[in-house]
Amino acid sequence: MEQPDWYYVDLKQVGIDFADPAEVESYDERQADDPQEDRALLARLGIEHFHVVADFGCGTGMLACEAAQIAKRVHAVDISAEMLAKSLRRAKGMGLGNLATQQAGFLSYEIPDNSVDIITSKFALHHLPDLWKGVALARLQRTLRPGGKLFLRDVVFECDPTEVPAVAESWIGWMGANTGYDRAEVATHIRDEHSTYSWIMAGLIERAGFRLLQADYSMRIYADYFAEKA
Ligand SMILES: C[S@@+](CC[C@H](N)C(=O)[O-])C[C@H]1O[C@@H](n2cnc3c(N)ncnc32)[C@H](O)[C@@H]1O
Repeated sequence: MEQPDWYYVDLKQVGIDFADPAEVESYDERQADDPQEDRALLARLGIEHFHVVADFGCGTGMLACEAAQIAKRVHAVDISAEMLAKSLRRAKGMGLGNLATQQAGFLSYEIPDNSVDIITSKFALHHLPDLWKGVALARLQRTLRPGGKLFLRDVVFECDPTEVPAVAESWIGWMGANTGYDRAEVATHIRDEHSTYSWIMAGLIERAGFRLLQADYSMRIYADYFAEKA
């Protein structure tokens, strides 16, 4: 779709380059995510066999494929062709034919309004600056059917500005000890990506037309938001 010259171009990687095949290849190992957790999340969101689900910033497609095992149709959206190729390989390996990939971002995807029952997005919205997070959330809201559910997990600073250095150092330390991400990678996230404050995120979700049902924070750096179309 043609956009005005001031519109944010969201097809470029910001921060860690998820178009890099080496980054994609090692992604699952470093994340060490558990598909059972995704299954539990989808159950909590009330997924049904007749539902349409969309996962944004789907990465290697673990959550999207879990959803496709239950739902009628799943849109797996990501700006990285390499990530989408990996998602499709995963879907094929699981014998799933109801997962459709779309190479696009939050601001450029094309899915009809009021057509999706559940939207999920994990660790992807922080790639947009705050102004555009708001625009993206308003687009997601339009895409959901009335009463549709939104689940958003992201890196969010649950602190005041003066506490950012302490929270940043504590997160870098934790990541080094517990995941495959070293100091340089976490520093890239903090410096170059657009993780924001918890009090801004909650406002953005509500101002985009969602009812915020629950916000869970951990380690002052991770947030899970459960919301529904108001
Ligand atoms: C940290 S990974 C998260 C992947 C997956 N959701 C997960 O939890 O494992 C971030 C993903 O967001 C994608 N991404 C980056 N900018 C994006 C944007 N503007 N719109 C949609 N996806 C984006 C990247 O290509 C990457 O696959």
